[in-house]
Amino acid sequence: MRRPLIAGNWKMNTDRASAVALAKAVAEKSGPAKHVDLLVCPPAVYLASVAEALSGTPVALGAQNVYFEDNGAFTGETSTSMLTDLGVEFVILGHSERRHVLGETDADVAKKTLKALDAGLAPIVCVGELLEEREAGRTAEVIASQFEGSLAGVSEDQMASVVIAYEPVWAIGTGKVASPEQAEEVHADLRRLLSERYSPALAEKVRILYGGSVKPGNAAELIGQPNIDGALVGGASLKADDFLGIATAA
Ligand code: G3P
Repeated sequence: MRRPLIAGNWKMNTDRASAVALAKAVAEKSGPAKHVDLLVCPPAVYLASVAEALSGTPVALGAQNVYFEDNGAFTGETSTSMLTDLGVEFVILGHSERRHVLGETDADVAKKTLKALDAGLAPIVCVGELLEEREAGRTAEVIASQFEGSLAGVSEDQMASVVIAYEPVWAIGTGKVASPEQAEEVHADLRRLLSERYSPALAEKVRILYGGSVKPGNAAELIGQPNIDGALVGGASLKADDFLGIATAA
């Protein structure tokens, strides 16, 4: 069975002291969440401090982005080797804020995914439809196209290390969570896509997280769906008690 993964995407929040304090609080209070994998993804500049705070704890460290080239003349970017050097294990790729605010394309996400896999990082590849796409009945088509584009060139072996996150854009930071049925429908579709493109066995292995206004109060019902294997949490991951409340509900 797939072990639930509860991941906190801190986005562009915290300062060094509060990032370290939050990481320590998550680790110290993680006892009741032993049945899930816990992951925190702080801003890149605090990865080293948070890595130190998490050392020897069961909480994993993730980055929010990475570049698809090796070290060199790429001002402002972060390479996969810089992340692994710090003990980073996961990297969020193709988050809707990077797609829609910063113009990242499926092709960019695919290059980053392959680069991350080469470096031994586990990519968390995000997909999700806009409100107008959902209202136009295009959700399944948009998800399928992001799935194909963002995972282009990923082999079946490599795919076993990939996590997919379904984050409907209209549910991110809005307090409007997808209903468990709406989320499950897309997750089941994603698992079918995995099965068709790779194999039924691979599809059973890959964790598919839901993201978008997950809170302690709605986590159990969402993660209780057959194809929802955890959560990618934004706002509620900035408070250790809320984040762990989601984890214990999983
Ligand atoms: O990556 C997590 C995310 O986009 C969801 O954010 O604040 O709605 O939990 P939030």
